[in-house]
Amino acid sequence: MNSIQMVDLFSQYQHIKGEVDAAIAGVIEKSAFINGYAVKNFSDNLAKFVQAKHVIPCANGTDALQIAFSALDLPKDAEFIVPSFNYVAAVEVGAFLGYKPVFVDSLAGTYNVDVSKIEQAISPKTKVIVAVHLFGQCADMDKIMEIATKHNLYVIEDNAQAIGATYTSGSGITKFAGTIAPIGTTSFFPSKNLGCMGDGGAIFTDNDQLAAKMRCIANHGQEVKYTYKMVGINSRLDTLQAAILDVKLKYLHQYIAARQKAAAFYDKALVNHPDFTIPERNPQSTHVFHQYTLQASSPAKREEAIKKLAACQVPSMIYYPSPLHLQEAYRHFGYQKGDFPVAEALCSTVFSLPMHTELTDEQLQYIIDSLLK
Ligand SMILES: Cc1ncc(COP(=O)(O)O)c(C=O)c1O
Repeated sequence: MNSIQMVDLFSQYQHIKGEVDAAIAGVIEKSAFINGYAVKNFSDNLAKFVQAKHVIPCANGTDALQIAFSALDLPKDAEFIVPSFNYVAAVEVGAFLGYKPVFVDSLAGTYNVDVSKIEQAISPKTKVIVAVHLFGQCADMDKIMEIATKHNLYVIEDNAQAIGATYTSGSGITKFAGTIAPIGTTSFFPSKNLGCMGDGGAIFTDNDQLAAKMRCIANHGQEVKYTYKMVGINSRLDTLQAAILDVKLKYLHQYIAARQKAAAFYDKALVNHPDFTIPERNPQSTHVFHQYTLQASSPAKREEAIKKLAACQVPSMIYYPSPLHLQEAYRHFGYQKGDFPVAEALCSTVFSLPMHTELTDEQLQYIIDSLLK
């Protein structure tokens, strides 16, 4: 049995080595390294895949969020709503641009935002809700869009962890994660479900004006070379990465199925375990399992589980060990311990098992045996 990793990128590469190597060689042969043909090809293919009118490629998922925020021309004192149990990117970008993050708590079952807490966080300054699809399944987008419409707010979907997931609204319309709100963002960080071999990101929108503006912001604020229409940044998807992503996009359905198969294995083994709670599913969303995250019945049980796994050379990770409202960088926004009890409890009890496309049944059984020893 091969050694077990949280994410096994090398084994995945070996299956598609011929295609990936040829794609890289193709870029080098043309030597059009910046905004080469592969960037457009991949963006067009991804747009088809997620059924978005526009895909704007950029340098990473954090830039995608920054470009999205910047395109909205928010007032200087704007507030945005974001879950505290989350990766830092949306909070960091919003705060960096001078806006105030207003945190909300999450649901203990699905780990996504608790939509029943959003309205009480809205003030006259609130302009944006960042809907994060954590660990691979969609937040409750029906409710988020309903609240946004009622209060006239923008919604940005942070889809870095759920590319390829779908969400079916109460009215029966199924859409890909990242295309439900007017703007969706994603990341192609190597460990993501659609990952490149470096950094990469993209923005999805069906809105022509927003698309043009976001393309312009990502390109130094210029539509015409050396003519600067607005303040922008330099955020490009690297051509080599685009060529690699175009190969991997063809396998995304297969990759998702492999992750779902591994998750089903874990579910079956752990569903009735007194010390661990398996991830609850949002019935309106598919789950593409960027992470398979369990909750231990107590912080001590988590520590014990992680130690048992490590003793058997099985890695595990804690996503996330501390909620964002208690991080030093965001302390000046005035939040305290106890403000978001679910987020705080999750940070002290969750842990993620290895999850990637190459896990064999033998490895999965070994992981479970190591955990339940
Ligand atoms: C939810 C979420 N948003 C945004 C990002 C940022 O993506 P990147 O690392 O490509 O900047 C990540 C990456 O881990 C993420 O998990």
